[in-house]
Amino acid sequence: MNSHTFKFYKLSNLLIFMFFTFALLAQKSVPLEQRIDETLKQLTLDEKVALLHAQSKFSSAGVPRLGIPENWMSDGPHGIRNEVLWDEWYAAGWTNDSCIAFPALTCLAATWNPEMAALYGNAIGQEARYRNKNVLLGPGVNIYRTPLNGRNFEYMGEDPYLAAQMVVPYVWNVQKNGVAACVKHYALNNQEVDRGHINVIVDERALHEIYLPAFKAAVQQGGAWAIMGAYNQYKNQHACHNQYLLNDILKRDWAFDGVVISDWGGAHNTEQAIINGLDMEFGSWTDGMRANKSNAYDLYYLANPYLELLRNGKTDVKTLDDKVRRVLRLIFRTNMADERHFGSFGTSEHAAVGRKIAEEGIVLLKNTNINAKIAKTNKTSALPVLPVDLSSTKTILVVGENAVKRMTIGGGSSSLKAKYEISPLQGIKNRVGNAAEVIYVKGYESPATKEPDVKNAKNPDKKNIDYAALRAEAVAAARNADVVLFFGGLNKNEHQDCEGGDRETYDLPYQQNELITELLKANPRTAVVMISGNAVAMPWAKTASAILEAWYGGTETGNAIAAVLFGDVNPSGKLPFSFYEKLTDAAAHSLGDYPGDGTNVEYKDGIFVGYRWLEKQKIAPAFAFGHGLSYTTFRYDKITADKTSISENDKITFNLTVTNTGKFDGAEVVQLYISDKQSSIERPAKELKAFKKVFLKAGETQNVSLTIDKTALSFYDVTRHDWTAEQGTFEALIGSSSADIRAKISFELKNN
Ligand code: GLC
Repeated sequence: MNSHTFKFYKLSNLLIFMFFTFALLAQKSVPLEQRIDETLKQLTLDEKVALLHAQSKFSSAGVPRLGIPENWMSDGPHGIRNEVLWDEWYAAGWTNDSCIAFPALTCLAATWNPEMAALYGNAIGQEARYRNKNVLLGPGVNIYRTPLNGRNFEYMGEDPYLAAQMVVPYVWNVQKNGVAACVKHYALNNQEVDRGHINVIVDERALHEIYLPAFKAAVQQGGAWAIMGAYNQYKNQHACHNQYLLNDILKRDWAFDGVVISDWGGAHNTEQAIINGLDMEFGSWTDGMRANKSNAYDLYYLANPYLELLRNGKTDVKTLDDKVRRVLRLIFRTNMADERHFGSFGTSEHAAVGRKIAEEGIVLLKNTNINAKIAKTNKTSALPVLPVDLSSTKTILVVGENAVKRMTIGGGSSSLKAKYEISPLQGIKNRVGNAAEVIYVKGYESPATKEPDVKNAKNPDKKNIDYAALRAEAVAAARNADVVLFFGGLNKNEHQDCEGGDRETYDLPYQQNELITELLKANPRTAVVMISGNAVAMPWAKTASAILEAWYGGTETGNAIAAVLFGDVNPSGKLPFSFYEKLTDAAAHSLGDYPGDGTNVEYKDGIFVGYRWLEKQKIAPAFAFGHGLSYTTFRYDKITADKTSISENDKITFNLTVTNTGKFDGAEVVQLYISDKQSSIERPAKELKAFKKVFLKAGETQNVSLTIDKTALSFYDVTRHDWTAEQGTFEALIGSSSADIRAKISFELKNN
């Protein structure tokens, strides 16, 4: 090819490239709202209404005539649920839908690290995208007000500020994959007992200060494209069609432009659904939830009944068009986005994300020397049990059903078909190799349950469990081990950490307390590892020298726990909720309002939830909100503020240095609480308003700055129906947990 020809060839290629780029840009240049307007004009009444309700268990119609695709929803907050039959809850039996199971959201919250939330959202968003789901039914951010709530494991703890900080990066990073996060369950779904109808009575201040902030942050900072209405009622209206929650607060005050999707079966009335803010109806009990009624979905409240009202002029098209715009906006943001993502699924990268989050979420509750007398009597080392030193450990006994029980299945709608799940026992074996002998005994057992999501699954034969024999076998084995690692806690069985019902006791099930107590007597070098999504009573906590809360860690659970147990990872998790000594220490139980009278439940504790309550009542928790130890220690120094007073529009920054004074690299979560010393109304002794997780090498010192503004000083004023901060003296309390305050600094808020 001579040089002239080559130049022409290059020029023509360049021109072709430029043409297609321009064409693409021209197509992209149609603004979202204009696309919606142009599409809306082309839709028939039937097509509009069809967009607003399910056509199957987890999908709603598109507009085939115009090439507008269906919407496909998928549970759940911890991973992409396996494909479900068109009309039934059961698994469709696909062989290509085994996902990566990520840790439960309590574990994510326990990392106190928004970067982990970002990683989580991106990975689960990629999994959803690949599985062609454009709406992820999660995250859940309902506030933890009773340790008995069966779904606390799907949520982010008792504090609105922590939940708000952790939900925003999750939402944002799911959505950057072209998948809508559907933040749930809006609002006040804080128990499973009577969840389908219970009317929650809560004062306006508690609603805004405690129960709404995480949803508000998800919408206003995370830009959530979908919100799921809750099953319960508020102000005697179902949350799925609720004037106050949906029209007034969510859509008017918060300017939410996304879709409100009902919980499955959460819609109950056509007129209410039309006028009180519901945009998409799923899972209604008009046979859409039972098998194979041919036109079940046409019977939905927002289906034929709505069409009839429209045709008879009994309801306005303006309201209809607002709903349709929101659904079209969802579609154009996801399945018809200019930039079509493709996601990825079941990858080792996603498994690594899950492991990292599980490792960072594990909370070291206790790790003390063993009482010298006990150590002497047992002729054993008095050093802390953790991390296990393999150079001096020859026999490791692993005890407990939770060391082997699959925890990615069960628990209700968040149940997953995981590609794999490393159990704690397997993780320990992977880590220890031939360095020591690992022996396993069950110690306790839970009643077998049938496989969830499997059609016609058989109920397993009821068998008597001989707890005494299991316990005796474990205790005998414990006497001969160098270290005992007990794995217990809760599981995903009914009335444990499971949707649809609450726990019936604060105690550990299956006679675990008796077993733990006996194990500790038999061998003080026992570490107790809780696998759970809730606090439990720990009557043996004062005797145990090592206690870990390891949550539900998902696919890589066992490897994450082993990394912490053997010191490859230094634990850095902090509790996202208080561990009460006893159930009546919790407001919802001492004030007697939980679970309500079957019709109403009154949140008599108001804003005093969790540590806010404990500090008001001067009750010491077993383990405090924000508590979590490390294999190293941290010293806080030079805690100062850059101002002694701030005005309305000012910020104040607190500076300190944190030094890792031990021999392990580690991470510390510096927490900042605010106390209003001159408020005209009652306020909590302290409220979390800032935190930062810092990673420090052994011996390293870092400067830490925490900045707040007037927002952090405000309370919700019910007379003005708005937030307000009163001038006067405030105190900043900086510490390692809500109960471990290292410094207090006073400052003034002055009106301009
Ligand atoms: C369930 C849950 C909700 C879930 C939905 C679909 O009842 O309350 O969290 O996303 O139905 O499974």
